[in-house]
Amino acid sequence: MKVFISRNIPQPGIDELIKNGLEVIINTDDKKLSQEELIQACQQVDLLLNVGHADLNNHFLQSCKHLQGIALASVGYDHVDINAATALGIPVSNTPEVLSGATADVAFLLMLAVSRKAFFRANDVREGKWNDFEFMQDLGIELNGKTLGIYGLGRIGLDLAIKAKAAYNMNIIYHNRSRNEVAENQVDAHYVSFEDLLAQSDVISLHTNLSPATQFKFDKEAFIKMKKTSIIINTARGKVINELDLIDALQKGEIWGAGLDVTDPEPMSLTNPLLQMSNVCVLPHIGSATIETRTKMAIMAANNLLAVAKGNAMLQIVNKEVYQ
Ligand code: DGY
Repeated sequence: MKVFISRNIPQPGIDELIKNGLEVIINTDDKKLSQEELIQACQQVDLLLNVGHADLNNHFLQSCKHLQGIALASVGYDHVDINAATALGIPVSNTPEVLSGATADVAFLLMLAVSRKAFFRANDVREGKWNDFEFMQDLGIELNGKTLGIYGLGRIGLDLAIKAKAAYNMNIIYHNRSRNEVAENQVDAHYVSFEDLLAQSDVISLHTNLSPATQFKFDKEAFIKMKKTSIIINTARGKVINELDLIDALQKGEIWGAGLDVTDPEPMSLTNPLLQMSNVCVLPHIGSATIETRTKMAIMAANNLLAVAKGNAMLQIVNKEVYQ
């Protein structure tokens, strides 16, 4: 069987496919392909290992209905029309768990960086604005003993909660569709309503998937209910936040700061006012971007395609219904 890999991936993922007898075609330019280029590339193969967030919508899937499996090198699959893939009988897999630690690290990094205005102050140094020891300039806030509210407490949220508790003895509250008893036992996390999450958290970190229920969940009405001293962290998906409302809330001082590893759209425009704010840190979607994690993601995606090649079910299948 032949596989198309849509961007470069760590070599162990490629080796896994080749040593198991699959023929591999890679987008060696490592440039983002247009949808038509991706469709063309897929015409010559049976399987796709998709890297990045190209829109695998109904048009793509209808044009590539011969594909026998799509392995995503991401945990999120909001860029894929899963219903269309299921209707066409195409199994789709993702990469859960292996990226939880790395993504939680970025949430922690942003939380601390925002609380101390670190990116902005580092920029001051680069721009020659370090004039003297200033006692009262751009003071940060401390995290010790504060309340961390997690919206969507799954594996990544739990990893962040463990780190926040160990580092700063933070109290953990969360809001989910269903209770997370593992987290309740492990970090003494308390389930609260969405309203209470907004009202009680000093830091709110988003770890939900993007769905119609979560899109723009953090909007004007939500920000107004948050503490004026609170920080919002997003390492999930940009569209969970209404970004214009966030800008407004920060400008009016309705919340204290924001740390974003994901934005809407990506990449963020250079003229976005968030980039001028001392209490905002923005990263270019690097949650899982470590050598270790990207290698594990590549191997996991490869193993899902190997399962298909051997006539088995994908291991991290997103649309189980395809096998019913
Ligand atoms: C994920 O795995 O969903 C990350 O956002 C990178 O795609």
